[in-house]
Amino acid sequence: MTFAAHKTMFESKEIPLTDDEREVAVSLRGIGKTFGDTTALEPVTLDIKRGEFFSLLGPSGCGKTTLLRIIGGFETPTSGEVSIAGRSVTGLQPYERRTNMVFQHGALFPHLTVAENIAFGLEMKREPRDVIKRKVGEALELVRLTEFGSRKIDQLSGGQRQRIAMARALVNDPEVLLLDEPLGALDLRLRLQMQDELRRLHKQIGGTFIFVTHDQGEAITMSDRLAVMSNGRIQQIGTPREVYERPSSRFVAEFMGHSNFYDGEVGSRTSDGVGEVIINGCAFPCRIPSEFNVGSKVFVALRYERVEIVPAGELCAGIEGTLVEENYLGPTLQRTVDLGALGTILSDTANNGRQTPMGVGSRVCVRWSIDGPTVLAAS
Ligand SMILES: Nc1ncnc2c1ncn2[C@@H]1O[C@H](COP(=O)(O)OP(=O)(O)OP(=O)(O)O)[C@@H](O)[C@H]1O
Ligand SMILES: [Mg+2]
Repeated sequence: MTFAAHKTMFESKEIPLTDDEREVAVSLRGIGKTFGDTTALEPVTLDIKRGEFFSLLGPSGCGKTTLLRIIGGFETPTSGEVSIAGRSVTGLQPYERRTNMVFQHGALFPHLTVAENIAFGLEMKREPRDVIKRKVGEALELVRLTEFGSRKIDQLSGGQRQRIAMARALVNDPEVLLLDEPLGALDLRLRLQMQDELRRLHKQIGGTFIFVTHDQGEAITMSDRLAVMSNGRIQQIGTPREVYERPSSRFVAEFMGHSNFYDGEVGSRTSDGVGEVIINGCAFPCRIPSEFNVGSKVFVALRYERVEIVPAGELCAGIEGTLVEENYLGPTLQRTVDLGALGTILSDTANNGRQTPMGVGSRVCVRWSIDGPTVLAAS
């Protein structure tokens, strides 16, 4: 079985596809969904590339599952069109699409064995016995559970069950694999291990994966690109680096990582963008995008890990304040400094084993790189 059978899939079509169409696995044009009075999804337009590991990231209820179910054909959109491999599939049943879904809540058959679970879809399609046996064997090998074919589902660990759920989806040779929080129920250690497994599977299979998660760290480590969603709306699409480094809205800045936030207005700006935002009468140095002028209302986000704190001294090239809290978090040390009228600022520094506690109440100097803060229009 070659799980990456895309080429034949594309070439078997009568109307030739353009090069651009060939590169796109899933194309969404104005896909929206309402349930009665609830808007689960504002119209979404988005292309997911062939072979891409694409994540839908957002808090509970933001519409991730709804979007995934529409791609898989389990939900009918209220508006818009879905195409897979260049052909419209809007209106087609799930089994008529080259997609397979790993559901948010398991959905394995507990009374069947592992092998019977994996074979289920192939039996529905009335594939010959010997083909089913071979494909089930190959799928078990892919998820490294070759010895487990005759086990019952309730004799497996949580992580093993998730791998079987993936094997059951992969055995149908999907063009696009849809994964709805497949690691959501696992403890942290197993979750990290399964993240590695999933990345390995993606590399090995070479197909397109659309992965739903509400965990920003998971989306950052796993994805080629991701879409951050809130309230049924896609807020930002980009590579993990683009979204983390250049959040386009307050929501994304708040959802990705941990930041200090301040409201203010631009106080000065040189031609190369270096300037100050005035926050409650205090100057806050940062680089200011060219769309803002002196007086523009803005907010500033500064990630905890970009804030450096050193004992106050004559060489302090930053802002002086008083250390009000010092927390030991294991891999990092978190400190809170009172900067007077500016407010408080939090800092998260890698615990390299050399820092000594500074002592709550001591005077400290707080500084950051001019490119550290993100400046966005006040909402
Ligand atoms: N069948 C339905 N009928 C009515 N409302 C629905 C239905 N399915 C989803 N919704 C609503 O649509 C919105 C989006 O739900 P969805 O399941 O897509 O969220 P989600 O991002 O997957 O959340 P979670 O992380 O909790 O799984 C929610 O407000 C939900 O209550
Ligand atoms: Mg969901």
